[in-house]
Amino acid sequence: MAAVEQVQTDQTLPRLAALLPAGKARLDEWLACAALLERAGDNEAARTIQEALALARSRLAYMPPQMRSALLGQSQAPLDLIEILVGIGAPQVAIDLLQGLKRTCGDSADLYFQLGSAYAVLGDTKRSVASFEAALERDPAHADAHLRLGYLLSERGAIGEGFEHFMTRARIVSEAPRDNANAPLHKTRHDQEQRDHLSTLGVTESFHVGDGARIAGPVINPAHTEEAIIEKWRQASPQCVILDDFLTPEALEKLRGYCLDSTVWHRIYEAGYIGAIPADGFACPLLAQLAEEILERWPRIVGPHRFKYLGAFKYDSELSRGTNTHADLAAVNVNFYITPDEANLDPQSGGMAVWNATIDTEPLMRQLNGSETQMQAYIASRRAVVTKIPHRANRAVIFKSSLIHKTDDCEFTTGYANKRINISLLFGDYGASTRV
Ligand SMILES: [Fe+2]
Repeated sequence: MAAVEQVQTDQTLPRLAALLPAGKARLDEWLACAALLERAGDNEAARTIQEALALARSRLAYMPPQMRSALLGQSQAPLDLIEILVGIGAPQVAIDLLQGLKRTCGDSADLYFQLGSAYAVLGDTKRSVASFEAALERDPAHADAHLRLGYLLSERGAIGEGFEHFMTRARIVSEAPRDNANAPLHKTRHDQEQRDHLSTLGVTESFHVGDGARIAGPVINPAHTEEAIIEKWRQASPQCVILDDFLTPEALEKLRGYCLDSTVWHRIYEAGYIGAIPADGFACPLLAQLAEEILERWPRIVGPHRFKYLGAFKYDSELSRGTNTHADLAAVNVNFYITPDEANLDPQSGGMAVWNATIDTEPLMRQLNGSETQMQAYIASRRAVVTKIPHRANRAVIFKSSLIHKTDDCEFTTGYANKRINISLLFGDYGASTRV
C-alpha cells in the first residue's frame, strides 16, 4: 500500500474528487480516495468504491489489455472506472458510485457527464438529459455533453434544440487543429477547392458555416402530400418511392449554399468520398426544419418513427468508387440529391441501386455490411433483382432502411460545385414495421 500512502500525503480529497469522475485517476488514486473517505467517517462512500472495483475486476476477461492493466494497477494509465462499469452493463453501480462521490466530494461537469451517460444506458432519458444539462451549467464548453444532448433531444423529438447542441459542439471542437497530414487526395483536394471558394467570399477562418437558417415557407414541395405517395409506398417492391422536385426552390438553393460554404466535411472514406455529420456542424436550423417537416408531412409513412440521424456525402469526380453494398440501421431512409444536373455526365446513372431484398435481423445486417463478398452471396441466395435509380438534382428516394442498396456508379464533371452530394436522413429502429 506504499503507493496509497504516497498519494494520501500529497493529495487531498477535493483534488481526487475532480480526477475520479473525469476518468483521469489511476488505481492508487481511487484507493487513496476510498481510504480518505473511510478516515473521514464516510464508510458507505468508501465501500461503494471498493465494491465497484471488485465488480470491475470480476469481469477482467472481457476487457481490453490496457483497461485490465489499469484496473490491476500494473500501469500508470488512468482508470476510467465509471466507463468500465457502464461498459460491463452495471450502470446502476456507476450511478451509486457517482452519487457517493458527489455527496462527499462535491460535483463537477465531468461527474454530471458520467452520470448522464450511465442514465442513458439505463434508458432513463429524463435523468440523462438533466445530468448533461447540469454538466453544461458547470462547463458550457463541455463538447461531449453537447454531443450527447444533440442525440438525446433530437431523438426525443426536440430536433431544433438538439441540433443547436450539435452546432455548439462543432464550434467548440473546431478550436483544436485537425491533423490532416495523412489525409487522402480526395480530401485534401476538396479542402483546397473549398478554401479557394471561400476566399472569393472573403472568408478566411478555418471553421465557417454558411447561412443555414430556417426559411418561412415549407422546405418540402407542397405537392408531395402523403395522399399522393401512400399507395406507391404500400405497393412498391422494393419498398421505395421516388420524388422529383423534392425541396422547394428556396430550400434547395439555401442547402446547396450551406454545403458549399460550410467547413463541415471531416469524415473521410477511403473509397473516394467524404462525409458531413451533425457533430461536425451538419445540423443547421434548416436541416432541423427539414427533419421536422418530413415527420409531419408523411405521418403514416415516417411519422411513427423517431428522427435518428442524418449525414451528407460528397464524392470526388475522379477518385470516387462509391459505397459498399449495405442496409442502414433504421426503419425508413429519406435520401436526396442536390448537385445540379449539368454536373452529371451520365443521366442514366449516378443515383442509387436498390435490391428487392431486405436483411431481416440487425446482427446479420452488421455482418453483411462488413463483407462485400458475403453480401453478394446473400443477394445471390435471395435471387434479388436490382433497380437502378438515376441521379437527378432535387430527387428524393424514400425507402425501407433494411433494403440492400448502394450508391450507383457516378460520373460527374470536375470543379468544386459539381461534386455529387447526397443527403440521408434516417428514422426509426431497424426491423420496425413500415407497413401502413
Ligand atoms: Fe445507405
